[in-house]
Amino acid sequence: MDGSAAGALAPATRLGRGYKGLPAGSIVDLSADLSWIARRGWNVLAGDTGTPVAVLHQDALTRNLAVMAGFCRRHDVGIAPHAKTTMSPELVARQLAAGAWGMTAAVPHQVAALRAWGVDRILLANEVADPAALRWLAGQVGPGAASELLWYVDSVAGVRLADEALAGAGAGGRQRVLLELGHAAGRSGARTAGAARAVARAVQESHRLELAGVAGYEGTIGTDRGPATRAAVTGFLATIGATYADLHAGGLLAATGPRYVSAGGSLFFDLVATAFAPLRQLGAQVLLRGGSYVAHDHGLYQQASPDTEPDWELAGFAAALEIWGRVVSRPEPELALLDVGRRDVSFDAGLPIPLHLVHRGTGTAVPAAGLAVTALSDQHAFLRLPAAADLAVGDLVGLGVSHPCTTFDKWPLLLLVDDRYGVVGGVRTFF
Ligand SMILES: Cc1ncc(COP(=O)(O)O)c(C=O)c1O
Repeated sequence: MDGSAAGALAPATRLGRGYKGLPAGSIVDLSADLSWIARRGWNVLAGDTGTPVAVLHQDALTRNLAVMAGFCRRHDVGIAPHAKTTMSPELVARQLAAGAWGMTAAVPHQVAALRAWGVDRILLANEVADPAALRWLAGQVGPGAASELLWYVDSVAGVRLADEALAGAGAGGRQRVLLELGHAAGRSGARTAGAARAVARAVQESHRLELAGVAGYEGTIGTDRGPATRAAVTGFLATIGATYADLHAGGLLAATGPRYVSAGGSLFFDLVATAFAPLRQLGAQVLLRGGSYVAHDHGLYQQASPDTEPDWELAGFAAALEIWGRVVSRPEPELALLDVGRRDVSFDAGLPIPLHLVHRGTGTAVPAAGLAVTALSDQHAFLRLPAAADLAVGDLVGLGVSHPCTTFDKWPLLLLVDDRYGVVGGVRTFF
């Protein structure tokens, strides 16, 4: 290896990293504190940061945390916010500080991240069929480790697989699992009462598992609050409740330790709180699992969150997440291209929504009236606009997103901004 190649692998070079969104050429040492960002005095509207850049409005985050905490208090329910939305240690810390019971993960490697960040109670809201992961999970709970770690079972085969894997690991005690119920045309989860009971009996017969409750996910039923979706969600939640009651009556739930009933993403958690309230009399702790609420959005969640209901009694959620890009080309009168693409912004639940623009050098945001993103390629957004629109190469455009989860995973670093887009810090993500 010659000297220059060795230099490329020198520790300082390996640790350093340029994050998209920072001014071109900025290198942040990974050991650097995020306060380095706060001390730069950047302003997004002044063009100080690179583009594209992901920003989180600090006030909106604070508000969303408070609104969800207020809802949980009012309805006497707990929340294990879904960490998959942000996978950010800074945001997870804020969710726990706001009173969350613990955190939800989707897969074992997210559990590992949460454990590394010191999270003490974890709900892995998914089945686990990897024997090595099952053995590893069993070692993550108990004295000196997490105080609660639950995962899902929805089949007799899955119960047997877990039992075998845990026996092989010589794990002591019983691992606590939740029985997942699913709905027709939905995702995982036992579909019938008979299937649920069979799984619960298999858990009881196993030597290494015990059933700590029942769970399901209603967010796969629909994304609107119309009567048909609402009826289907309410019906599914009633099935989860009836299953909990049935297993309770049949002596199939764990005799010791807390018991849970869990559902509730960010669209229907109000219906969940109402449907599950009677189960508290049967000893169930209600756990919601919303993740998207923390950032909210300008699309799907803005249109259909519980705060759109006339009887919503708390403040509304606020969209915290925006992606800002620059016009790099205006090749046709009614077309501009931004330096924001599929690598930067979600497109699975609607295209980004132009919110504001800043003419180069003005530092002032004005509403982006009459503009629409009609397509994305890897690194570009196609912005359709009236031929007479005042938008030039070099101008900034602020975009709202629809579905925050699939935007967060595109950003190892998002910048926290105040209400004037002054950069006051950053949050990291680890997907
Ligand atoms: C099982 C499960 N629980 C909770 C959530 C969180 O839902 P939301 O993103 O609406 O907050 C999800 C999201 O996909 C999920 O799959």
